[in-house]
Amino acid sequence: MAGKPLGVAQIGTGAIALANHLPGVQVSQQGEMVALCDVNQAALQQAFTATGIEKVYTDYRKLLQDPAVDAVIIATPNRFHKEIALAAIAAGKHVMCEKPIALNYADALEMYQAAEKAGVCHMTAFTYRFVPAMRYMKHLIDSGYIGQPYHFRVNRLQDWGDRSMGWRQSMELAGSGELGDMLSHRLDYGHFLIGPITRLVASTRNIITVRHDASGQAFPSDVDDWVAALAEFENGTTGNFESTKLAPGRGEGGKSQDYCEVNGSEGSLIYYLGQPNVLQVAKRGGQLAPVAVPEEFLKVPGSPRDPHQGDPLQIFRYDQDFEFIQAIAEGRPCQPSFFDGMRVQAVMDAIQQSDREKRWVDVPGLGSN
Ligand SMILES: NC(=O)c1ccc[n+]([C@@H]2O[C@H](COP(=O)([O-])OP(=O)(O)OC[C@H]3O[C@@H](n4cnc5c(N)ncnc54)[C@H](O)[C@@H]3O)[C@@H](O)[C@H]2O)c1
Repeated sequence: MAGKPLGVAQIGTGAIALANHLPGVQVSQQGEMVALCDVNQAALQQAFTATGIEKVYTDYRKLLQDPAVDAVIIATPNRFHKEIALAAIAAGKHVMCEKPIALNYADALEMYQAAEKAGVCHMTAFTYRFVPAMRYMKHLIDSGYIGQPYHFRVNRLQDWGDRSMGWRQSMELAGSGELGDMLSHRLDYGHFLIGPITRLVASTRNIITVRHDASGQAFPSDVDDWVAALAEFENGTTGNFESTKLAPGRGEGGKSQDYCEVNGSEGSLIYYLGQPNVLQVAKRGGQLAPVAVPEEFLKVPGSPRDPHQGDPLQIFRYDQDFEFIQAIAEGRPCQPSFFDGMRVQAVMDAIQQSDREKRWVDVPGLGSN
């Protein structure tokens, strides 16, 4: 990778592209954002204003013919991830795709297999693996600090009320509601921290069936507003998951309730996204107390950013784009990859099946990456 930086293009220049990927790619010294693509001119204009990147496309197929583009980051509504990813892979481009990578497991499997066959790097944007406290939690669990894990417990509680959520409230465009939007990340870090989920029983609820935009126009909403699941991990750990945006008083975004607790034979660890550089830690017989995440876990190895500069709730997100570019530069698989996106999709399908059939469901064993 000496010489010319890797040419990266952003497909879908909406909220998450502006917040995470455009600044994230800038942090990496080995990659450069060279082109932008969006079907919406206003979104393109906003991204141009943020970056000054003049090469813009409204059709991703044209962008994929651009030889300056080595890699793409897909951040469109979920419905379009698969077709864009498969076209990018066919054009020989490396691909990072936002979560959930597809609308169902079969589509995610097709994407994973196509990327593997083509030999391109593939990554799923499971951003919360990059939170310093999450990386430290993983280290402590792997090194036996809490002994044998017994329980894994997450909840994600926000207060978005009944306002319009655009494509997010459409089953056709999103594939699910809270399940794909919020719980998918928590399923991924359950896999990351504990291992594969093997079976589960779940419930979802579409509570608000009509949402209104700022002008008062009504739009149907046919996705889950709430999802909860009890699960078993392959290693015997129990799993307990809940997510909703209908929790008045909880607020929104990174400072609202985003909690993960792991209890083991020798201790407990608790993570709050709102405190990304702190873990609550207890040893058996003791009390929980805050522990600062050690310096070596404040960013991924090699990341050029200064972990003490900027908002701690934002800056870890840039390591995700660094990892994508760095893995390509080093010719190694990205972490997390499409395999991880596919594995989460298998659990999401099982959650929807369990909800439909009102029973425990086995999650297909996918082996390891
Ligand atoms: N990793 C995270 O933490 C995180 C956070 C938020 C959103 N997301 C994911 O990112 C994706 C985008 O979410 P968002 O909040 O940025 O949505 P958004 O609506 O703000 O932006 C999506 C953009 O995609 C554009 N678009 C639609 N179809 C397109 C196409 N065919 N080609 C090119 N552009 C197209 C839209 O015009 C829009 O500008 C979703 O998959 C979402 O789940 C991930």
